[in-house]
Amino acid sequence: MCGIVGYIGHREAYPIILKGLKRLEYRGYDSAGIALYDGENIKLSKTKGKVDDLEKRINSEISTVGTLGIGHTRWATHGVPNDINSHPHYSNSGDLVIIHNGIIENYGTLKKELINRGYSFTSETDTEVLINLIEDIKKSENIKLGQAVQIALTQVVGAYAIAVFDKNKPNEIVVARLGSPLAIGIGDDEFFIASDASPFIEYTNNAIYLEDEEMAIVRRGKEIKVRKIKDDSLVNPYVQKLQLNLEQIEKGGYEHFMLKEIYEQPNAIKDTYRGRLLTDKAIIKMSGVEDNMKKFLNANRIIVVACGTSWHAGLVSEYIFENLARIPVEVEYASEFRYRNPVINENDIVIAISQSGETADTLAAIKLAKSKGAFVFGVCNVVGSSIARETHAGAYTHAGPEIGVASTKAFTTQITVLSLIALRLARAKGTISSSDFRHHLIELEMIPDKVEKALKSDDYVKSIAEIYKGTKNFLYLGRGYNFPVALEGALKLKEISYIHAEGYPAAEMKHGPIALIDENMPIVVIATKNGQYDKVVSNIQEIKSRKGKIIGIVTKGDQIVKELADHVIEVPETLESLSPLLTTIPLQLLSYHIAVMLDRNVDQPRNLAKSVTVE
Ligand code: AGP
Ligand code: GLU
Repeated sequence: MCGIVGYIGHREAYPIILKGLKRLEYRGYDSAGIALYDGENIKLSKTKGKVDDLEKRINSEISTVGTLGIGHTRWATHGVPNDINSHPHYSNSGDLVIIHNGIIENYGTLKKELINRGYSFTSETDTEVLINLIEDIKKSENIKLGQAVQIALTQVVGAYAIAVFDKNKPNEIVVARLGSPLAIGIGDDEFFIASDASPFIEYTNNAIYLEDEEMAIVRRGKEIKVRKIKDDSLVNPYVQKLQLNLEQIEKGGYEHFMLKEIYEQPNAIKDTYRGRLLTDKAIIKMSGVEDNMKKFLNANRIIVVACGTSWHAGLVSEYIFENLARIPVEVEYASEFRYRNPVINENDIVIAISQSGETADTLAAIKLAKSKGAFVFGVCNVVGSSIARETHAGAYTHAGPEIGVASTKAFTTQITVLSLIALRLARAKGTISSSDFRHHLIELEMIPDKVEKALKSDDYVKSIAEIYKGTKNFLYLGRGYNFPVALEGALKLKEISYIHAEGYPAAEMKHGPIALIDENMPIVVIATKNGQYDKVVSNIQEIKSRKGKIIGIVTKGDQIVKELADHVIEVPETLESLSPLLTTIPLQLLSYHIAVMLDRNVDQPRNLAKSVTVE
C-alpha cells in the first residue's frame, strides 16, 4: 500500500504532486519520490523518509520544471525502506519510469527470467521487476508503451495500481489497476492521477475510478481511453461528481488529524443517521436493507468480517444484533476467514466492515463468501471504494475522510450504522416492541449531544495521561457491549504511543491477566451503570486488592466506583447498547494525549498505514 500521484497538463507538475503526496501520506510514509519530464529528459529524486524529507532535498538534486510527472509515498513490502528501494523506478534503459502501489507476487520468477535476458536490478523491489518486464516486452515486440504494459500485466500475479511513462513519449501516462485504488481527475486539458481524489480536489470534481483489471492511457489534451487489460475491450468510464471539499481533508486548526477526527464525531454520527433515523415517524429508512429485507429475514446467521478497529465495531454489533434482532452472529477476522475454508452458504449474510473499503484481507473474504453463494453487505466509509463496489448492497458511514491512521470516527459511525440495521431488522422481525424501538431511536438521536459532553472530559483525561505516560503496560477491561471497547482502547494506545496494552473481558481477568497486576499497572475499567455494573464493581475490588491503579469510565453521577478508583472519567447515561459510542471517547483522548506527550507521530505511527492493501 502506498500513495501514488501523477499529473499531465499545462501547469507545473511538481507542486501539484508534492501537495498530493502530502495528502496521501496516510497510506504509507517510509519513503517518497518524484519523477518529472522537463521537456527533454526524466528528472528523478527519491529518498527514505517522509515527503517533507523529499521536499528538503529535491531542489538541490534536480530542477523541478515540467508539466508531466509522477510521485510516490511508500509503505515497503519488498525491500527495506531506503533511498534505492524508493519509487519511482527506472527501467534498465532509463527510458521508462514507474510508480507502483501493491505487490507483484511472482516477481521472483520474472526477475530470474529477466536476469537471464541480461537485465540487472539495483533495488530489492518487485516494482523494478515490473518496469523491466514492460521494457523487455516493449523492445522485443517493438510495440507501444500501452500495449507493452497491457501484455506485462497479463503475466503478473498480485495487486497493483501503477503509473508509467516513457521519456520518448512525453505526452502520455499509462495507468492500470488490480486490487489497489486508482482515480483519474479530469480537468480542462489536464489530468490528475491519484490513489484517492484528495490530491486533485481543488482542481476538479470530475473523476473516473478505474475498476480492477482496467487500464487507461492518459494523453495530454486528449480523451481518456479506458480498456480491459485481459481482452482489450474498450470501457465507457463513469465520470463521478465528487462531493469532497478541501476543508474536509485539512486539519482545520487542530494539531493533529486524529484530534480533529475525535472532535468531529458528534457531526459524523449525525451525518451517518441523517435521513435514516426518522424519530417523528418512528421509522428507520435504509434502502440497502429495505431492498434486501427478505434475505435478511430469512438468514440463518450473520457473519461479520473485518480487521482492526472495524473488527471491534463488528464485535459490538454481535451484541446488538443478537440482543435486538435475535439473529445469531459470528465475528471473524477477515484474514483468518479467507484461508480456513469456512462453512458458509446462500442462507448466510456476510457483513463486511471497512473504513477505507480497500483492506485486502476484507476484500478477499468478501470474494470468498460470494463464491460460496452468501449475500454480502458492506459497511464502508469511502464512497466508491473497492469493497463498496464488490458487495451486493451496503450502507455508507458518512464519517467524512478519516486521515489519522488511528481510526476514531470510523468506529463510532460504524456502530451507528450497525445499530440502525439491527433496529430496523428487530422491528421487521417483531423482536422489539414499538415503545422500545421508539425509545432506542430517541436515545440514538441524542448521542451526538452526549458525545459532545463526553468530549468535555478532555482536559481531565490529559491530566491522567500526564500521570501514566511513562508506564510500560496498560490493561483495559470491559464487559458485554463494552468488552470490544476495551479492545479498541488498548489498540488505540498501542498503535500511537507504542505502549503495550491488552484489552480483556473484565471477568476473564481472574483467569490469567490478574497475575500482571501490581502497584505499577494502570487498568482502565469501563463500568457504566447500564450493563453488568455490579459484576464490574466486583472486578474493580479484585484489582484494588492487588494495588492496581484504576481509571474508571463511569456513568455521570456514579459514586460507588468513584470511591474505589484512582480516577473516574464520567460519560453521560444512555442505553447499554449505545454506550460504546460514549465510553470510547475518553479512551481515544487518553491514547492521543499520551502519544503527544511521548512525542510520537500521532497521525502516522511507525510501521502502520491507513489502508492495508496487502495481505
Ligand atoms: C485502526 O486504528 C487501525 N489503524 C486498523 O486496525 C484499521 O482499523 C484496519 O486496518 C482496518 O481498516 P479498514 O477499516 O479501512 O478496513
Ligand atoms: N511492492 C512495492 C514496494 O515494496 C510497492 C509497495 C507500496 O505499495 O508502497 O516497493
